[in-house]
Amino acid sequence: MDNRRVAIIVSSDSGYRGEREDLSGPEIKRIAEENGYEVVSAAILPDDKDMLSSAMAKIADENMADLILTTGGTGFSQRDCMPEATLAIAERLVPGIPEAMRAYSMQFTKRAMLSRSTAGIRKQTLIVNLPGSPKAVRECLDYIISELAHGLDILTGEAANCARK
Ligand code: MTE
Repeated sequence: MDNRRVAIIVSSDSGYRGEREDLSGPEIKRIAEENGYEVVSAAILPDDKDMLSSAMAKIADENMADLILTTGGTGFSQRDCMPEATLAIAERLVPGIPEAMRAYSMQFTKRAMLSRSTAGIRKQTLIVNLPGSPKAVRECLDYIISELAHGLDILTGEAANCARK
């Protein structure tokens, strides 16, 4: 099996305008590559629901990546809309991934409960929202990444459904 393909999407108005260096996208890239994933694209987009939805839908519909990892836009600010952008184009929801991230993250900060992150599937692509800071990316992605491979194997039909084994 070739390396699983990851697309990274950063939701940040200031990053998009070039006013703030994005450190979270590179952190996702580092962890993904360490875990055997191939990063096929990385984009910084504004906190704009339609732009984020369109970018994610295109990646899934054109089968450009097996996994989309997003960062940022999961909080309470008026512009934060990554969960809504994801839900708008997801065909099936995967609530267990954000549930696990939030539960695990509570040991680091109780503010983890403030992350509205979601996860879903569109066609054969899994989308997972990570929080915005490099620290939060590290804490969440290090925790979930080992289990994503199994989900992707089933999603792409390379593994049988576990219940049938
Ligand atoms: N999760 C982990 N593991 N570590 C963190 O530091 N920060 C929280 C939360 N989740 C945090 C975390 C905070 S302070 C907020 S406001 C939310 O994620 C939303 O972050 P975002 O708006 O940057 O996506």
